[in-house]
Amino acid sequence: MSETIKPIDEKLENLNIFDPELMKCPHAFYKKLRDESPVYQDPTTGIFQVSKHELICEAARNAKVFSNDFGALQKDGGSDSYPQEAAEIMAKDGYPSVNTMLTADPPRHTKYRGLVDKAFAPKRVADMVPAIEEKTNYIIDQFFDDGKCEVASQIAQPLPIRVIAEALGASSDDYDNFKIWSQAFTDQLSGTSTPDEHIEIAKKLVQFQQYFADRLSEKAKNPSDDILSDLATLDFEDENDVSRKLETAEQLSIIQQLLVAGNATTAHSITEAIKLLIENPDQMELVVNDHSLIPNMIEESLRLLTPTNNMWRIATEDTELGGVAIPAGSALLLRYGSGNRDEELFENPDKFDVTRNNARRHVAFGQGIHVCLGMNLSRKEMYTAFPIILGRLKNMRFADGNKFNYSPNVLLRGLDNLYIEFDKA
Ligand code: HEM
Repeated sequence: MSETIKPIDEKLENLNIFDPELMKCPHAFYKKLRDESPVYQDPTTGIFQVSKHELICEAARNAKVFSNDFGALQKDGGSDSYPQEAAEIMAKDGYPSVNTMLTADPPRHTKYRGLVDKAFAPKRVADMVPAIEEKTNYIIDQFFDDGKCEVASQIAQPLPIRVIAEALGASSDDYDNFKIWSQAFTDQLSGTSTPDEHIEIAKKLVQFQQYFADRLSEKAKNPSDDILSDLATLDFEDENDVSRKLETAEQLSIIQQLLVAGNATTAHSITEAIKLLIENPDQMELVVNDHSLIPNMIEESLRLLTPTNNMWRIATEDTELGGVAIPAGSALLLRYGSGNRDEELFENPDKFDVTRNNARRHVAFGQGIHVCLGMNLSRKEMYTAFPIILGRLKNMRFADGNKFNYSPNVLLRGLDNLYIEFDKA
């Protein structure tokens, strides 16, 4: 089954790119952008929208001209509602925000990325499979006898949070806090938070920072085989080629990215894949009868959802993209979610097709030097969990209560919740 995308009659210049309704279901807007103006400067905000697969890749691969030094935009999602009180909470009790991986450019970016890349290399991730299997079964055991569950909170969120907590070397007893902090990071990126919400987010971020600063100082004294110990003890050569230990603010920035970039995105992907399978019984049947299709099914779900739907860039010099002049200092939104439905690359792009032969050409994990650090881990989690999910939760179907709501967020996209019933295998 293909999603029905109703075309937008309104002219592009009359659309508010931060309209929450547009963010909830952006596909018709994206199609209009691709058809009419693949590099489109929004007249109200001045932000350039890049919507074609090829142009997104071109910009993402050119880190010199299209910089990731967008920390200031990321903080308030580009909105101007960031209150002084939130800044004061962070300044008084928190650690300063520093640009490490996502919001750093080379040579800084290269140094930090080199430090953590090996923790997520294919071999390290392959070693995590037994733990992922065990966690998936444990998570399912918690609701299995009910014959029903809410997928986002009972399957999709717990899995990546438990996996990353263990990889970091944090206690799984702190699971509830991890969930709260991950949500706070996601809300911070939404671009729709009110000043009061920003203040609440700042308080949670300070708690997160204090918790991890304590864990890091423990690991510095008693290191073990985990990422926190690596961050606490390894010698790091900075962009001035000085060998030193990481400062706490740097360590916290890295950990924050592992949580924010990894948890909501993987959780949203798992939830969406289950929704798409239930909506498309023919595709469900194919995958249930042939588990070797699971990896491609996951890639196809990633393509259609694109959990990191958009990402910022800043032009470092006067440049040009797709024949459009872009002045130095301009902000761009790379519309990964649009590139993944580009009809020039993906035939019948709105269709969920688990046998699509080029599904993996999606840009859901980005491109170029900032390509997702956790993509091996995220894929391994989903490739490992789905055979178990499909094996134990038979005949999955929608239960009552589904609103199929995607909370508006400038950068991230995912279903709030998904109620299902199943037969116990
Ligand atoms: C389905 C799951 C995921 C999706 C869709 C996703 C998506 C992305 C995308 C699109 C980028 C590139 C951002 C840019 O263009 O600037 C990115 C970067 C990043 N991701 Fe992921 N991600 C996922 C899971 C994870 C996981 C599990 C982790 C870590 C445990 C992670 C950590 C990171 C980090 C640290 C970066 C910044 C890398 C850099 O700037 O060099 N992600 N991710």
